[in-house]
Amino acid sequence: MSVLDVRSHMERKFPEGFYWGAATSSFQTEGGIENMDWAQAAREGKVPPIGRACDFYNRYESDFDIAKKLGHNCHRISIEWSRIEPEEGKFDEKEVEHYLKVLAALRARHIKPFITIWHFTLPLWFSESGGFERKDSPEIFARYCGFVAKKLGNDCRHFATINEPLPYTTNGWVRGSWPPFKEVPGLGWALAHIPGHREIQKRPSWVNVWRYFRVRKHLARAHNLAYDAIKTNAFGAEVGIVHQVILFHADGNPFNKLLAWFMNWFWTHSFLMHIYRKCDSIGINYYLHKKFGDTAVYKKTDMGWDVYPEGLCGALLMVKRYGKPVWVAEAGVADADDDMRADYITRLIRCMHTAIQQGVDLRGYMYWSLFDNYELAHGYSKRFGLVEVDYDTLERRIRPSAYVFKEIIERNALVD
Ligand code: BGC
Repeated sequence: MSVLDVRSHMERKFPEGFYWGAATSSFQTEGGIENMDWAQAAREGKVPPIGRACDFYNRYESDFDIAKKLGHNCHRISIEWSRIEPEEGKFDEKEVEHYLKVLAALRARHIKPFITIWHFTLPLWFSESGGFERKDSPEIFARYCGFVAKKLGNDCRHFATINEPLPYTTNGWVRGSWPPFKEVPGLGWALAHIPGHREIQKRPSWVNVWRYFRVRKHLARAHNLAYDAIKTNAFGAEVGIVHQVILFHADGNPFNKLLAWFMNWFWTHSFLMHIYRKCDSIGINYYLHKKFGDTAVYKKTDMGWDVYPEGLCGALLMVKRYGKPVWVAEAGVADADDDMRADYITRLIRCMHTAIQQGVDLRGYMYWSLFDNYELAHGYSKRFGLVEVDYDTLERRIRPSAYVFKEIIERNALVD
């Protein structure tokens, strides 16, 4: 038997109790949410209409049946702030009931719920009064998180406060492509080559640099206050954040190496260093890498992003220094034809295994996303789902790659 034969049967076992599943977010899937900033932006023609999305609000039972069928043992949802707190300080118990039913539906299928309390969308009363530029925004956010924890804390143990503070602030205050559509002069243009940039509005102003850093500071404080609020209201909850890690790396050139070091510090560490003490675990989302000085030509995803799942390993090692349990809260690929997804997932999982062997305390992986959904400024044109959604009939069709993932889940191992 040659070395290659041996390798081809190598089994990469995952730790007992490893969690496998998928992630979704409220506004990208539920449908019918009108009272928030993205819906308002859609009415103004600045982002594509959201409408009924995948109607997940009404179809979660059958969608969780699919997740179960695919072997998932965990699932990440987000709570829609504008449903829970439609007016400042007024909370809607009916919507709390809804999310309790969603959690019960997961429990009934033995799927462990993970809640992200805030995933990009703001209730209108908050966004129109300044959103996270407001000085008191951290307190407002913590009050909302405390309420959610109090109501849902008996039914869910895992909470993340904020999804992706860096893309949120960068797209909102530098590129001007997401609400509140503020742009730093020149920078929106300079970043426009990045696929996904949408030409709209703009309100370019240098003051947005100051606002950008102000919002980042407020988000860090919001997380820290929310951590305490959740802990107080949900005894024994595990609280973390979901942070997008872009892997910046470089060829051998010292200048490029320095640049990569700086960018990793700026994008990942300069935020996490302010909040990791108030994190029981850290969730990371991985989609992007940038190798300075690299001339390689990469295959592209439907988003125009490099097919480079191997970057996840470096991304995981980057957060190892915080000494916390880690979750891959999102990683996935837009691939309408489903001809690269299975390979992409397999390669991601191989990286996870390597990272575990190198000492990362990785606890689980949630693929983005269970089904196709509203892909932010791209609307419904990009398809990340393990499950295809027909937006005319809302019919769901499981893609072949979902079964490849299922096989890995069932073995709790990757065989290659
Ligand atoms: C976000 C998701 C988004 C995904 C793919 C992540 O940045 O959390 O909301 O759909 O990336 O772009």
